[in-house]
Amino acid sequence: MAKVKKQPFTALYPVPAVMVSCADGAGGRPNIITLAWVGTLCSEPPIIGIGIRPHRYSHGLIKKSREFVINIPSADQVKALDYCGIYSGRDVDKFKATGLTPQRSQMVTPPGISECPVNIECKVKDIISLGSHDLFLGEVVLVQVDEEILTGRGRIDYIKAAPIAYNIPEYWGIGELLGLHGLSRRSGDQL
Ligand SMILES: Cc1cc2nc3c(=O)[nH]c(=O)nc-3n(C[C@H](O)[C@H](O)[C@H](O)COP(=O)(O)O)c2cc1C
Repeated sequence: MAKVKKQPFTALYPVPAVMVSCADGAGGRPNIITLAWVGTLCSEPPIIGIGIRPHRYSHGLIKKSREFVINIPSADQVKALDYCGIYSGRDVDKFKATGLTPQRSQMVTPPGISECPVNIECKVKDIISLGSHDLFLGEVVLVQVDEEILTGRGRIDYIKAAPIAYNIPEYWGIGELLGLHGLSRRSGDQL
């Protein structure tokens, strides 16, 4: 198969599209920013990195409070996800505008988003300036999961969770289950 060489760019895919909530201090107005530059970086301690351009309103809020909540939306929240990625909290109250409900967090000040089935509460461990974006290293301090998306074994059921992936400018749902971890051992095939 012929391959085309492209200039370096962030070619990695799929990337998750999430809504990160943050707040202007205790009692301050909460905000939501849509992010796709998000990834798991470490298991112990659990750390997730989020990349935010310095001029975003949310950047200032998170830098000051050093706390945020990663809310994983379901497919039916795609319109709110898009809205929070287009409008700025400098101009609008995104909770009010989208009708999303703030949900009290347990370990951090910013509220989570009640309609999102998973809310990951994070405290900022470090901020690294990379260029166009600053990397916020968020240590996960608590995860709240909607009971309804859990399997009998307590794992997340992807069909019920219906996460969203972003492929600029497209929003995608997930596809089919391809197999289980360890399937290569069972098949006996050489890799
Ligand atoms: C799907 C999607 C993904 C986005 N990912 C990022 C991202 O990873 N980092 C970033 O700085 N902005 C990202 N944005 C842009 C911000 O969400 C957008 O500029 C937002 O309006 C900023 O809100 P704020 O000013 O209230 O912080 C994304 C937007 C969309 C629609």
